[in-house]
Amino acid sequence: MKKRLLIVDEDSASNSMLMNHLTNSKWVEICGQATRIDQVWQMLQSLRPDMVLLGEIKESERGVLCQQFRFAFPHLSFIAACSPQDLVWEPFFRNLGIWVVAKPIQAGQIEALAMMPQAITREAWQSAPPQEPYSNTPSMPSNQPLRQTMGEASSESQSPAIHSMPKHLITVYGPKGGVGKTFISRELAIYFSQQKREGSTLKVLAVDFNLDLGTFATTLNLPRTPNMFTWVQEIEAQLHESVRLRGRDPADIRAEEWQEYIADFRLSSADVEKYIVTHMESGLHVLTSPRDIRHSFEIRNYHVYLILETLKHSTYDVILIDTAPDTTDATIQALFFAEQVVMVGNPVVDSIENIQRLLKLLREAEYPEERIQVCMNRLQRKEMFTLDEIRAYFQLHPSKKIFPIPDDAEVKKSINTGSPMMLQPGKTAAKGAIETLGKALIPEEEEKAESPLKNKTRERPALFRWLWG
Ligand SMILES: Nc1ncnc2c1ncn2[C@@H]1O[C@H](COP(=O)(O)OP(=O)(O)OP(=O)(O)O)[C@@H](O)[C@H]1O
Ligand SMILES: [Mg+2]
Repeated sequence: MKKRLLIVDEDSASNSMLMNHLTNSKWVEICGQATRIDQVWQMLQSLRPDMVLLGEIKESERGVLCQQFRFAFPHLSFIAACSPQDLVWEPFFRNLGIWVVAKPIQAGQIEALAMMPQAITREAWQSAPPQEPYSNTPSMPSNQPLRQTMGEASSESQSPAIHSMPKHLITVYGPKGGVGKTFISRELAIYFSQQKREGSTLKVLAVDFNLDLGTFATTLNLPRTPNMFTWVQEIEAQLHESVRLRGRDPADIRAEEWQEYIADFRLSSADVEKYIVTHMESGLHVLTSPRDIRHSFEIRNYHVYLILETLKHSTYDVILIDTAPDTTDATIQALFFAEQVVMVGNPVVDSIENIQRLLKLLREAEYPEERIQVCMNRLQRKEMFTLDEIRAYFQLHPSKKIFPIPDDAEVKKSINTGSPMMLQPGKTAAKGAIETLGKALIPEEEEKAESPLKNKTRERPALFRWLWG
């Protein structure tokens, strides 16, 4: 369902531009436009918007207005559209739970804010697997998450969340075991960790979402402590502490109340580094899966959600998630949080069939297909199916390329020795193919582009693109 947006801004030129850009939006419909404050109350009542965009309104204080509006219409989400000089108020707005976008407003920014909750609620996942993957995640009515997310931002006053989002969150997935997800994740992660932007090396985190049987650490000869379970234990401790601080005994809290506590709960993105291990040769950070399978049973959907939320607000430039070949909640969340997904398969009929089934499911859930890059791994010189045939079977858009990675005898050796191909000298076929995939995921010219953090008044497409995909 589209979110209804009311624009409140006396700058009617800016309003018209935004209205034009959002005409065909799948996520937002503009239900009204007010250029004077006295029109707004009546419009809020009659038009019933979900979101209110507050631009320039003379002689009015946006923060106060929002509080008044919210008092009467508690479900509303607010976005403050700020001119460059107004951006100094950003922390103030964020503390009030108001999203901030810089003018000129990009339609994609508004769409990203409108669609974000759908990415994490069952609404967008109508074909939910039978286990109801979000049943344990914090309850998030679709009209609240903007504020809830802002709550997180406000807890990080020194580093505004809106400016510290990772540039790229990439999930490597494939609905069949052993097709090369971990190998490709590892090589891409190492490849990105060697890339520079504006003279400084990209800060990359690889995350092992094979919660029970992950081997990412092993493929880099890394220890498995600390790991995601270490973090989850800390989350539980903090959660219990926050309940106690509100004068409650965690033992007395009912399940629904827990959901509310969790929905309000925010982790500090500065803490992430406490739970990672570092691959010294490359500088890559790795959040490994638990050492003990039993620990993985303790990781609940809401932990995964909180971890992903925190990572997305962390200072990493690239976050690469290696997943398991399943449709558990952790995997589905990793897909929905991702800015891009690398869908890995082999040129064998069962792998192809499962990718097709997955694509069908994602299409039914209106998952933005432009996020998905299909990658055929282990191609041999002569294959029974050509890439064109595979593409036709997947019904991919004609502009979509399938990324081939050849079968390469060096791969096995490089996995067995824990020595990534990307750090080995010389060229191999698989190495070149992964570089090509890496460049498609993060184009080089984008790496050279000026960081959005440097100039707040510039467009911030990349910042929002990870949300929007
Ligand atoms: N391009 C390749 N050429 C040759 N061998 C490969 C290639 N890619 C992967 N392999 C082999 O396939 C094996 C499985 O790869 P990998 O562990 O990355 O798969 P996976 O999809 O992560 O598996 P799982 O679903 O169990 O997590 C590797 O150990 C490696 O030997
Ligand atoms: Mg794997």
